[in-house]
Amino acid sequence: MWFNKDEAKAGRRRHGVRTTAPASLLFLLIIIMLSTVEPSEANCSFPAIFNFGDSNSDTGGFWAAFPFQRAPFGMTFFHKPAGRASDGRLVIDFLAQALGLPFLSPYLQSIASNFSHGANFATAASTVLLPNTSLFVTGISPFSLAIQLNQMKELREKAYELNPQDNLPAKDIFDKALYTIDIGQNDFTSKVGRTGVEEFRQMLSQVVNQITWTVKELYDIGGRRFLVFNLAPIGCFPAFLTLLPHKSNDLDQYGCMVHYNNAVTYYNKLLRAALQQIRPELSNATVVYVNTHAVKLKLFRRPQKHGLVYGTKACCGSGAGAYNYDPLVFCGNSKEINGMNVTATACSDPQNYVSWDGIHATEAANKVIASAVLRGAYFDPPFHLSQLCELNPIG
Ligand SMILES: *[C@@H]1O[C@H](CO)[C@@H](O)[C@H](O)[C@H]1NC(C)=O
Ligand SMILES: *[C@@H]1O[C@H](CO)[C@@H](O)[C@H](O)[C@H]1NC(C)=O
Ligand SMILES: *[C@@H]1O[C@H](CO)[C@@H](O)[C@H](O)[C@H]1NC(C)=O
Ligand SMILES: *[C@@H]1O[C@H](CO)[C@@H](O)[C@H](O)[C@H]1NC(C)=O
Ligand SMILES: *[C@@H]1O[C@H](CO)[C@@H](O)[C@H](O)[C@H]1NC(C)=O
Repeated sequence: MWFNKDEAKAGRRRHGVRTTAPASLLFLLIIIMLSTVEPSEANCSFPAIFNFGDSNSDTGGFWAAFPFQRAPFGMTFFHKPAGRASDGRLVIDFLAQALGLPFLSPYLQSIASNFSHGANFATAASTVLLPNTSLFVTGISPFSLAIQLNQMKELREKAYELNPQDNLPAKDIFDKALYTIDIGQNDFTSKVGRTGVEEFRQMLSQVVNQITWTVKELYDIGGRRFLVFNLAPIGCFPAFLTLLPHKSNDLDQYGCMVHYNNAVTYYNKLLRAALQQIRPELSNATVVYVNTHAVKLKLFRRPQKHGLVYGTKACCGSGAGAYNYDPLVFCGNSKEINGMNVTATACSDPQNYVSWDGIHATEAANKVIASAVLRGAYFDPPFHLSQLCELNPIG
């Protein structure tokens, strides 16, 4: 979906333009960035976060591997593309800030990364199951969950093998760290419209089994605290409302597709039950199912209740239809269509939107989700994060 040669070339051209900006301006920008990103010290029993996932929690891994992310990504908080599929911070960024930790460095980012407080193995378009290689060109990442797990093991090996270095985690961090897993959306969406019901259900059980297997593997290398996020109501996403076949009578009163949302609910039940099942095997571990689905559904259904305005309409798009989503012109891209130059630009008020680009959430939505999670209401079983840490307020 994002990966083609023209974009790579365009990315290089943009780079050339950026470096001609006055040095003093760049310097000022760096100072501003540093001052906003500086974490405040908090008393917290989590010295690190290790995250596994897809674009919903990628802090720059995919774009480190394929460097050509464009404006307007990052416009709200970073004021430039920052490797995140959003206008600003992701839920994982808010979580790190609340725990008094710096933003997570992507494991694939070789420039200026610091893993002493954790690492982010998530990359956009990642799947839980091994991807079908013929899909790489159409937007599936090669960095599936099993590969992310291997990268984690490699990082840990290096931390043990090398003398203490100030950009690697300390050896005693692995059993104290928080392990977060937020993945599965791409397995779901790449198959949901394409296979029969039975085949689809089978695939979903495989996805869930692979996630619980990953938790056990992480447990075996010392992991003890796990947050596993469930899947979002993709039947409300502007992109899938545009792309996935459905009848108008399959829409609920909020304009979301009932059929696909029910399939997500089915998957989430499987995940919850599977986590319940492995808990007894993992003594002294905390394995928490995080129901962000519930918060996201509320946001799409009644955005006004949470200080937002638009639910099923994307902020960044080319102006096509009620959903402002055109698969031919993704956010930040331009394309000639019928002799017209069509560009997908951002709205001027992303703070009013749940959906940034039709698939991913805005910073405003992520802030609502992170606040709700940090309040503790969406953990199953209850997980007293605010007792384990003096949480920094979300700002
Ligand atoms: C952390 O906790 C210790 C002991 O409870 C306390 O003395 C210290 O002030 C706390 N530090 C911060 C930054 O809150
Ligand atoms: C992989 O994807 C291609 C193209 O969509 C498809 O023809 C093929 O059957 C898939 N293979 C498997 C094993 O799913
Ligand atoms: C990495 O971060 C830690 C903690 O914030 C800091 O002490 C260390 O100096 C940093 N390392 C580098 C190479 O910047
Ligand atoms: C249980 O885990 C905690 C950290 O989560 C650790 O401090 C404690 O020593 C562990 N207890 C046992 C019996 O392994
Ligand atoms: C189309 O519009 C965009 C944004 O205004 C511009 O960057 C791009 O060069 C234009 N492309 C063509 C072929 O005119």
